[in-house]
Amino acid sequence: MIGKAMQDLMNEQINKELFSSYLYLSMAAYFEDKSLPGFAHWMRTQEAEEREHAMKFYDFILERGGKVMLKAIEAPKTDWKSSLELFEEVAAHEAKVTASINSLYELALKEKDYPAQVMLQWFITEQVEEEKNAAEIVASLKLIEERGTAVLMLDHRLAKRGGD
Ligand code: FEO
Repeated sequence: MIGKAMQDLMNEQINKELFSSYLYLSMAAYFEDKSLPGFAHWMRTQEAEEREHAMKFYDFILERGGKVMLKAIEAPKTDWKSSLELFEEVAAHEAKVTASINSLYELALKEKDYPAQVMLQWFITEQVEEEKNAAEIVASLKLIEERGTAVLMLDHRLAKRGGD
């Protein structure tokens, strides 16, 4: 039987995972609007993963005789200044999710909840992957942006050419 504190925190985690799904769905719409179907596809794939994450907690609570209590899902943002800003938000968001998974694990240790510890280890590994993916995309977008700046600098230099 799942403990009350673990049940409550896992119910909150369901909400966080569903918010993540909602956030990435909003980001997918942003990229569709910008005619970037590859980015939108990445976001749609990510969105589906987040729903799976929510369902892992949902099923775990039920399997252990607990009660699933769904809460309202916050509305996500709908606009970003750039793809880089958006992915920096993805990275920050995933870092927050990692922190809440870590809190769940700490509770599982404190309560000697061994089934929860085993289940949460999957999430700990998953978060390493999630943070790595976001960081790689942020790094790539920064490189693209720097190249754009380099082209502008060259343009500036070329503009100074005098006549022969
Ligand atoms: Fe469910 Fe992106 O962590």
